[in-house]
Amino acid sequence: MQAPRAQWGSRIGFILAAAGSAVGLGNLWKFPYITGLNGGGVFILAYVCCVVLVGLPVMSAEILIGRATQKSPVAAFRELTHPGSFWVSFGWLGVFAAGSLLSYYSVIAGWAMHYAYISLNGELVGSGVEGVQSLFGQVVASPGLNLFWHIAFMALTVGVVLGGVAKGIDRWSRILMPALLIMLTGLVVRAAFLPGFGEGLEFAFGIRPEEFRPESLLAALGQAFFSLSIGMGTMLTYGSYLHRDDDIMDSSIQICALDTIVALAASAVIFPIIFSFAGLEPGQGPGLLFASIPTGLIQMPFSGVLLATFFFLLVFAALTSAISLLEVPVSFLIDQFGWSRGKSAALAGAVITLYGIPSALSYVEGSALPEFLDKLDWVVSNLMFPVGGIGMSLFAGWRMDEALRHDHFLSGSKYRFAYNAWLTLLRFIVPVGIVCVFLNAIGVM
Ligand code: PHE
Repeated sequence: MQAPRAQWGSRIGFILAAAGSAVGLGNLWKFPYITGLNGGGVFILAYVCCVVLVGLPVMSAEILIGRATQKSPVAAFRELTHPGSFWVSFGWLGVFAAGSLLSYYSVIAGWAMHYAYISLNGELVGSGVEGVQSLFGQVVASPGLNLFWHIAFMALTVGVVLGGVAKGIDRWSRILMPALLIMLTGLVVRAAFLPGFGEGLEFAFGIRPEEFRPESLLAALGQAFFSLSIGMGTMLTYGSYLHRDDDIMDSSIQICALDTIVALAASAVIFPIIFSFAGLEPGQGPGLLFASIPTGLIQMPFSGVLLATFFFLLVFAALTSAISLLEVPVSFLIDQFGWSRGKSAALAGAVITLYGIPSALSYVEGSALPEFLDKLDWVVSNLMFPVGGIGMSLFAGWRMDEALRHDHFLSGSKYRFAYNAWLTLLRFIVPVGIVCVFLNAIGVM
């Protein structure tokens, strides 16, 4: 007989784990610069609309499918349809997409770990303004450093997932997420005292409609998907450990709100730093986090503490996201083959670590696969996320059994009145929105 489904230790544990999945490099890095480049406040308004009208319905649908089946993506779609059904491919896509994203996410998180380490041992402060600016180029070009930190980060992720749902993911999320929020709050407060605070906020939040283009709306939608961790089965898997009478819509609203608040707070830290120190550019790319920000921080009093806070913030945010990504293949292996969690986590961790090697070596001179990381990110963000999102919304909206869907939406919910609106969004608005993003990404629109 199969062991009973693992369950969250507490409701707050679930919320923090799911919010931990959502809050990641996407919030701290992608969100600020996309906002800056797409009209500031106008973009934020568009983003919030995307979160409410598309992100929230899909997130709750994913959690609902997971909770209704108590299974990981492949087994969940199989149970709700039949083995070999076309819908099961969305489960497979989720497992593959989560593994792909984690393979290079871990490389970037590894850079953050390296920077956290050299913040602590004083090396970063010791390298001076010019040293910091050129350091990032050297770090990404070093095969040894990249591989070491990629493996270290994967080992950390496997270590948490090995502990299981209640004793691993739940427990660590309840430690890492509050710590993250405290560090972020500290940095916002510090940023508020910088001379460039006003200018930074103006750049991030000021209303500049002339910079908001049709593509900006699509960028907002794509960012909402990435940032909310939807479309690839992470929320479905986390939902499968949820208690029968937890309010799915209420939880989803809290997760979306927390994710959005962190993204806004990150912008309120990043741009004031950029604008306070002459010569820094609000440019995009990894250089924003790993070159411009440390160059600013190093010129401030107590730079060692600030640098360590900033990079630990990145590591914690990335770690809680990575945990949710690894949990997708792990719970798949447990469900599919009846393996133990230990064996599943070790195998999935090892395969994904190997898969990450070309990304880890992307920027090394003479790399056999130059820019592999960027190319894989393009495929994951622009192809896998939208296709997964379409699958989740169409399945929950059109294919899933009405009685089951209705029952799980209503169970324990104070949002019973929203059922019809939710279903309408899932059936029409969400798929049309995602198709537009998709066509835009592949250059058709
Ligand atoms: N939401 C995470 C971020 O913003 C990325 C992520 C996507 C994590 C999908 C898990 C699943 O960085």
